[in-house]
Amino acid sequence: MDQLLVHGGSTLKGAVNISGSKNASLPILAATLLTEDPCIIRRVPDVSDTNYMVQILNALGADVERSSGTVRITAGDVSHVAPYEQVRRMRASICVMGPLLARHGRAVVSLPGGCVIGDRPVDLHLRGMEALGAKVEFEGGNIHLSAPDGLRGAEMDLRGGSGPTVLGTGNVMMAACLADGVTVIESAAAEPEVVDLADFLTGMGARITGAGTRRITIEGVPALHGVEHTVIPDRIEAGTFMAAAALAGEGVTLRRVRRDHMEAVTRALEASGHSVAFNDRGDTCKVNRGGSPSGVELETAPYPAYPTDMQAQMTALLATTPGISVVKDTIFPQRFMHCAELKRMGADIKVDHGVAVVRGVERLSAAPVMASDLRASAALVLAALTASGSTVINRLYHIDRGYEHIDEKLEALGADVERVKV
Ligand code: UD1
Repeated sequence: MDQLLVHGGSTLKGAVNISGSKNASLPILAATLLTEDPCIIRRVPDVSDTNYMVQILNALGADVERSSGTVRITAGDVSHVAPYEQVRRMRASICVMGPLLARHGRAVVSLPGGCVIGDRPVDLHLRGMEALGAKVEFEGGNIHLSAPDGLRGAEMDLRGGSGPTVLGTGNVMMAACLADGVTVIESAAAEPEVVDLADFLTGMGARITGAGTRRITIEGVPALHGVEHTVIPDRIEAGTFMAAAALAGEGVTLRRVRRDHMEAVTRALEASGHSVAFNDRGDTCKVNRGGSPSGVELETAPYPAYPTDMQAQMTALLATTPGISVVKDTIFPQRFMHCAELKRMGADIKVDHGVAVVRGVERLSAAPVMASDLRASAALVLAALTASGSTVINRLYHIDRGYEHIDEKLEALGADVERVKV
């Protein structure tokens, strides 16, 4: 199990290339199950979550070749059963459900287990599949779905108690592509990853309108074909490096970003006194730490509002930002595990009912800390960059789930980090 050793105090400078989006890649990889033709997907980040998805596709019988960011998949003769051994490792494997059901008229997918950032049910995914005419049963920890006469287009509302569902919207959209008739998803997620999936499916011959809005319409087609696609940049990796630059940088340039995907994070950094300057094309930005940063109020909510996946990293930045900040997570109110670890480094944070009140301290100090989930571990790395002393971050496998070569990228910017095998 690897650890990351971060020797605090270095200044970050230079440029970093942002990888392709992990969260866009996962449903797109699953969508290749919708056709027997080969699909080629570029800029798939080399992280363990995309590796898990590739393993699931392999286990289902697909032929997968992967080399330097490009994945070529031919899902010729695939099974309708997604095995527990593969699925249990990653919640996002639930998004093979829609494609398998659409392709075979039946699917067996293991029910995802609990998750440290909160109870993460899949009831909205199932509501969508039922609306399309699938029968849903549970047996032995598995979800059994069947639609012997095929799926039928339907109107549905996928709003849950915390708003829309990102993977649920994607899952239902994938199933609806091969359904008979027109499907309308109301209260759809509008995240850029949903739009990228819709673009991929459209490239395969699907007929989708409204992706990126709260109402997506899918006109079913009899079959889909192969496609070549390049995944969008990872807006959460980009946001993490923007926060790192605001915390410990002296002019850090991010390349291969999309300004339109970064608006909420840019606004939050600017509100805290930092500067973010994009080039005219909006694909490169330079982040400068502000001279007198101050605390902010932040609230996570569905896109285009501030992303929950950038909550922990911003909390780490605010831990040493003068003044009082208030951070509320409306999507995953229990997602504050990183605060306990930040407090071990000297942060002054009080968490109560999904709200963290952060009083900026002058400096954090190194301590052995434990990564609890993907974004929490990124927050600890950020905190360690300016802490006095050397911070040991345990359970690094969490960060490897979603950040491509993060240690190498930070080192290239001048951070003093070491990956240690223990
Ligand atoms: C995706 C992202 C994850 C991000 C999250 C919210 C991927 C691989 N993961 O996860 O990084 O944090 O969006 O932006 O893209 N919910 C239900 N019932 C459901 C589904 C969800 O109640 O059937 C609730 C969840 O508990 C949560 C909210 O809806 O409170 C949003 O979750 P959702 O958008 O579905 O998250 P994911 O798509 O799983």
